[in-house]
Amino acid sequence: MRKIGVIGLGYVGLPLAVSFAREGCEVIGVDVDARKVEAIESGRSYVEDVSAEDLAALGERLSAGTRYAPLADADAVLICVPTPLSRNREPDLGPLVEAARALAGVLKPGQLVVLESTTYPGTTRERLLPLLEESGLSAGRDFHLAFSPERVDPGRTDFTMRNTPKVIGGLTEACAERAAELYGLVCEEIVKVSSPEAAELTKLLENVFRSVNIALVNELAMLTDRMGIDVWEVVDAAATKPYGFMRFEPGPGMGGHCLPVDPFYLSWRAREFDMATEFVELAGKINQQMPYHCVAKAQRALNERGLAVKGARIAIIGVSYKPGVGDVRESPALKMIGLLRELGAEVGYHDPHVPELPELGLSSLPFEQAITDADLALIVTAHPEVDHDEIARRARLVVDLRGVTRSAGSPANVVKL
Ligand SMILES: NC(=O)c1ccc[n+]([C@@H]2O[C@H](COP(=O)([O-])OP(=O)(O)OC[C@H]3O[C@@H](n4cnc5c(N)ncnc54)[C@H](O)[C@@H]3O)[C@@H](O)[C@H]2O)c1
Repeated sequence: MRKIGVIGLGYVGLPLAVSFAREGCEVIGVDVDARKVEAIESGRSYVEDVSAEDLAALGERLSAGTRYAPLADADAVLICVPTPLSRNREPDLGPLVEAARALAGVLKPGQLVVLESTTYPGTTRERLLPLLEESGLSAGRDFHLAFSPERVDPGRTDFTMRNTPKVIGGLTEACAERAAELYGLVCEEIVKVSSPEAAELTKLLENVFRSVNIALVNELAMLTDRMGIDVWEVVDAAATKPYGFMRFEPGPGMGGHCLPVDPFYLSWRAREFDMATEFVELAGKINQQMPYHCVAKAQRALNERGLAVKGARIAIIGVSYKPGVGDVRESPALKMIGLLRELGAEVGYHDPHVPELPELGLSSLPFEQAITDADLALIVTAHPEVDHDEIARRARLVVDLRGVTRSAGSPANVVKL
């Protein structure tokens, strides 16, 4: 039986570990977070895309621990640790360096190591490789090394690991071949590129593409606000063009671990090559303005009804960064709650995926209470199970930042982004 090690059992690593275990591999998971390890060992999942039943069905094939030693027995080790930004918005490779050092201590000849974490071009060769070679083994000769970006879209069911093509860049052709053979177990289509750098940049292009296009439509939303044009109507109409246009939705800004972070890995790296990646910076700037624009919009909506934000009861509907998941990392809702509180609002929220926001001292309000008690229901994230038409019908005032009340027409109590 093949043995696969997975380092970092988060949103990326746990589903990946489960995929390989489902294919009959023995998977050894390693995470520094003892709570996650304990949860997996007792059959509890903390990632929406993996259920407790999924874990139970794997039996002994998936194990988790905080120690790296068991990885010595693995045929392949996949690294899925976080790649955040530091306080001054520079790449923080701390978790990766730590993982690489620990892995070097147990690395064995013949193993394959694949980095999945999103990062700038050059990381695998210039940062990971030298740390792994501290083992005394040589990359490409004694062990195989590749980069293969994770493309998971949490909460998504139409495109899964199996039917999403997997990009692989090996240090050598043999490294790429070995990684392709491994991922062929869980992915239908493998796309080999010529180097780890090409694979690293592929992932960043995908994320920058989304960030720039979201910024474009967000900027349009700020303009249409002044012009008195409905941005949703314009986006809907443009999307009828059968070619040359791709639909992106405006909204309160970008959240999650990827889009607000990854593009800055590219702009940081570009500076070493005397390049300023202006699209990346501009998109980041516009997307960061959106929570401020949306709070101003809410403020005006209250004002038109003779209400001040100070003292107003505002119910945020949806606080996670995207529909259908409970992940609140970098969620624009958190920024907006802070801004509204600074203005003196009494802020509560309703989110079926986020029972509590302990850092803000808040718990999710029941739906009924959220919509009937509030002076304003502010739709920030549109979860599929929330009835937004009902909110449009019953709440006193609604500001809809996701265009989900469009089917309700234009009732006087609803203001759209
Ligand atoms: N979440 C997504 O949708 C997504 C999609 C594509 C790519 N990515 C990328 O994948 C990588 C991981 O993202 P994530 O969302 O799974 O992060 P996450 O924070 O959910 O999970 C990372 C895990 O790594 C663990 N960890 C940190 N340092 C470690 C170490 N030294 N040894 C062992 N474990 C360690 C953490 O405790 C955590 O459980 C990032 O580079 C991210 O950009 C994420």
